[in-house]
Order: sequence, then C-alpha cells, then structure tokens
Amino acid sequence: MENKKRIMSGMRPTGKLHLGHYFGVLKNWVNLQDEFESYFFIADWHALTTKYNQTDDLRQNIEDVLLDWLASGIDPDKSTIYLQSWVKETAALHIYLSMITPQNWVERDPTLKDLAKIMKDKQENMSNLSYGLFGYPVLMTADILTFNTHFVPVGIDQVAHVELSRDIARRFNNIYKTDYFIEPQPKLTQIPLLKGLDGNKMGKSFNNDIKISDSDEITEKKVKTAITDRNRIRKDDKGNPDNCEVVFEYWKIFGRDDEVSEISTACKNASIGCAECKKRLAQKINATLAPLREKRNELLKDKGLCHQILTEGSKKAGIKAKEVLDGVVEVVKMYK
Ligand code: TRP
Repeated sequence: MENKKRIMSGMRPTGKLHLGHYFGVLKNWVNLQDEFESYFFIADWHALTTKYNQTDDLRQNIEDVLLDWLASGIDPDKSTIYLQSWVKETAALHIYLSMITPQNWVERDPTLKDLAKIMKDKQENMSNLSYGLFGYPVLMTADILTFNTHFVPVGIDQVAHVELSRDIARRFNNIYKTDYFIEPQPKLTQIPLLKGLDGNKMGKSFNNDIKISDSDEITEKKVKTAITDRNRIRKDDKGNPDNCEVVFEYWKIFGRDDEVSEISTACKNASIGCAECKKRLAQKINATLAPLREKRNELLKDKGLCHQILTEGSKKAGIKAKEVLDGVVEVVKMYK
C-alpha cells in the first residue's frame, strides 16, 4: 500500500448515472483501483455551487451515485470512498489555495465561461453565479491536493480543470519555495466518448441517456429512439453503417467482433431493418448491464449501507488529508 502512487477522482451527486459515466469514467476507476492507492468521492460541496437552493434531493442523489459506483465494481475494500463535506481538511486547504490563485486564472476557466453564457442565454438571474461557483476549480484543486495525488482519472471534459490544478500546485511550490505538492496529472480512458441516443453529448438533462439502473423495458424503449443512418428511410433501402452515428457506434461497444460485422453486412444488404437492429442492440445492452443491475438491486436492500461506507471511507480519507494539511500549515509558516 505504502509504495503505490495515489489517484483520486469524484463526481457531483447528480443522481442516477448513465452509460457515458460508466464507459467514460467508472470502468477506468475500476481498472485502476488495484494498481493505485485510490480515493473516490462524491462532491456534495460542488453540487452547492449551482444547487445551493435545491438540497431536498441531495441525500437521494448521493446514494444513487454511490450505488451505481458499487454496482459498477468500485470496491470499498480496495478504494477509499468518501463524501467531500465529511473531510473538512479539504475546506481548509481550499482557503490556502484560494489566497494564491490569481483571479484571472479562475476567470479563464472554460467550463465557467460556458456556464455563464448558458445562464445569460436562458436569461437566468446572474446573481446565481456565486462567489463559490467561481471557486469551483480551486475547490477541485483542493480535492486533488488533499491527498497530494499523482493522477486524476477523469473524462475529457474535466481535463482543463486538472490542468489548472497543476498550475496551482506549481505556484504554491514556487511561492513557498518548496516541492511539497506533486503536480497532478489527468489520466484519460481509451474509450471514445459515448454519444447520447440523439447523437449529441450524453447527458441527464438532454433526455438522451441510458441509465445503469434503467430496467430492460425502459432501455429497449429508449434505444428505439436512437439515431441510425439518416439516409436509410425504408426497411428495404440499403444502409451504410459508417453513417449510422449512434446505433452502429453502440454495436461496436456492446457487440463481439463477429456480431458487429454480421450486423454491418445485414445493414448494407438490407436484410435487417433499423427497428430489428435496435431491438437486438437493446438486448445486448441489457445483457451487458444485467450483472450491474442485479448487484444494484441487491445492495438497495441494505438501507444503511451507503451511510456506512461513506462514514468509514471519510474517516480513512481524513487521516491522509490531515497529514497533507499539517504539512501545508508548516510550509506556509502559520503560527503554531
Ligand atoms: N468537476 C467534477 C465533475 O463535475 C467533479 C469533481 C470535483 C472532481 N472535484 C474533483 C473530479 C476532483 C476529479 C477530481 O464531474
């Protein structure tokens, strides 16, 4: 354990997770947890950066995320799984980092720029863009540096944030003439981004996702709506899998090589229609997810499980976090 390098990553408690999370992030975490000393956390403070006034479903959302992690194979015996707000050292570290982070670094953050633009376009009240929200990337840096982490396994959308964490770690080291913080590096998955059923980015709010926890029936219904070759209108039109943006892309992920080439041939010579093709795809997806869904339903029976895992994990995370924070206090030369 001692000689392993550390990874850490987290997700905001947005509720039940979809296949984009599973293939883009969770599978990666599961593979890494043997090789690394791993910390995975649920970012409930980050949820407050935008949803500070919608906290009624926070508890349920946290448990839904955790259950999806466990169902996907994140193992509390191998990894430390914790709740952000239960490891207070991160908040203290955030204060130190906020002092040394130039304001214009934060303002340059691409995600925040996008968010501000979306809010303006939707004519939302701009006072919803809070001080805390602008601190989002600094708080994220505090998460990462809480364990003096070597690698951060994230989806491509988070890479800019991790880069900023490197910059902040380096700046801390320069200012206090130390090499205390490791410059954390993003660690991406090999799997390409899984598109949503409509061909856009998969996302909960776009209504184009398949959830890990969806039933077989819901999955089949959703797959029926998926985009295929837009030029193939009638069943006896010959199709072109290369133009089949979503369904054929999913086949490549869920099918064996021989099944993929079989489906490709059948599409090209119109011996199978899109409806039948999607029906078979839904069956493949359901078969792949069956063990996860079974496990999730099993875990759901133990009502206290999520709370217990987070309690134990947060305690464990707190030990390493305190060690790192004590070092910061020392390096900054705070009065002791
Ligand atoms: N920003 C991440 C997301 O939206 C969540 C997150 C917060 C995170 N802190 C982190 C991810 C630290 C990795 C490391 O999904």
